[in-house]
Amino acid sequence: MASDNVSIHGAWASRWVFILAATGSAVGLGNIWKFPYMTGVYGGGAFVVMYLFCIALVGVPIMLAETLIGRRGRQSPVNAMKSLAIEAGASKHWSLAALMGMVAALLILSFYSVVAGWSLDYIIGMGRGDFTGISADGAGAAFGGLTSDPWRLTLWHSLFMLITAFVIAKGVVAGLERSLRIMMPLLFVLLLVLLGYSFTTGHFREGFDFLFHFDPSKVQGGILAAMGHAFFTLSVGVGSIMVYGAYMPKKASIGATVLTVGVLDTLVALTAGLALFPIVFAAGLEPGGGPGLMFVTLPIAFGNIAFGQVMGLIFFVLVAVAAWSSSISMLEPAVAYFVEKTGRSRSQVTAVLALLCWLVGMGTVLSFNLWAEAKFFVFADDGFHLLQWGGEGGKTFFDSIDYLTSRILLPLGGLSFAMFAGWVLSRDAVREELSIRNPLLFNLALWLIRVVAPIGVLIVFIAELSK
Ligand code: TRP
Repeated sequence: MASDNVSIHGAWASRWVFILAATGSAVGLGNIWKFPYMTGVYGGGAFVVMYLFCIALVGVPIMLAETLIGRRGRQSPVNAMKSLAIEAGASKHWSLAALMGMVAALLILSFYSVVAGWSLDYIIGMGRGDFTGISADGAGAAFGGLTSDPWRLTLWHSLFMLITAFVIAKGVVAGLERSLRIMMPLLFVLLLVLLGYSFTTGHFREGFDFLFHFDPSKVQGGILAAMGHAFFTLSVGVGSIMVYGAYMPKKASIGATVLTVGVLDTLVALTAGLALFPIVFAAGLEPGGGPGLMFVTLPIAFGNIAFGQVMGLIFFVLVAVAAWSSSISMLEPAVAYFVEKTGRSRSQVTAVLALLCWLVGMGTVLSFNLWAEAKFFVFADDGFHLLQWGGEGGKTFFDSIDYLTSRILLPLGGLSFAMFAGWVLSRDAVREELSIRNPLLFNLALWLIRVVAPIGVLIVFIAELSK
């Protein structure tokens, strides 16, 4: 049966490589760029608390579900779910969830590549010393100069997509492991160095309070965003973790392994927030600054500290690497699927899919400049418009894809994966895969997968749609 085989795409050497790969997928722009700015937008501590709840009660259980489906199926997410459903006597249409996830992952890659491209541009800027002694205004202007230039954005977007495709084409198992072993700890060390610096700004307390001060009045606005981000930051809901699970050794305990990944990802996000906010306050800026936070605020800090140029350079190299180890996990489910389906080579399949993502990503590139006024999904006084030029309301192309994926596709995918693992697979199958020995802990995990995570997603999802 499928569950006894090794996947045709290869297998990790040990569960540690799975931890490395899954943490590489989870830790990315979501932790270093998105989490701090969302905390800024949604009012600090209230958002952080909701985020932690969402991670523990929904994110980690779904990660468990995905990993165990993947390892039992030993194929791309679509085919894994199809064969497991047939084996369990359920409808093979469960695999539609994995298909939707696969498309969502490609959509995420389309804009992720553009933003990751920004960090490539900043590597050059830091290396040239463009930010030395820069003022807050100067840093804002530098960022604006980048995003308003479609050619520059296209260049970096193309380059990032190319390096993503390159690794995937070579094979994840062979290419990834060695670089991740060096780069991931280094990223962590650099974040700690930055954290150390933020201690010296004299504003650490202010930043800390901002991150952890709980203001109940802000809870409502951020809960949907917190749930969406919990999915995004753990890379769940699209099959990225599922496909990595398919490459995991048979004997390893999924329970302990997945928990490690969840904890590491959360630690990195909190460290990034703690490092960033004191610097924001020290520079006299407001943390509610939105997406520009990392690309405006950090350069100011690096431009005005000793050794800032070198540190800034290394920092953006590592941001790019963190993004890169995430982007490959977005491409892998689709590549594995089409290799299985068409029998064509990995390189051919990768080239076609990466080109497709690149094209969609051009919409995001243009949404920062030439198409900035193109607003999708506009609910105006005179009714609904799918696309409108200028005016109030609506979302840019980038915001639309971000919204569609984080708020709708990821939760739906995660819901389906949890339901499938919890209710379609047999209890014994789940027990065998999770290999949590303590019966109490096993029942807790099963209950989280079966009941808590689905209800959590549903409540938030319905609230979202009825807004
Ligand atoms: N988790 C990554 C981050 O925080 C992004 C990511 C990688 C992702 N793979 C994913 C997000 C799959 C959603 C789905 O940057």
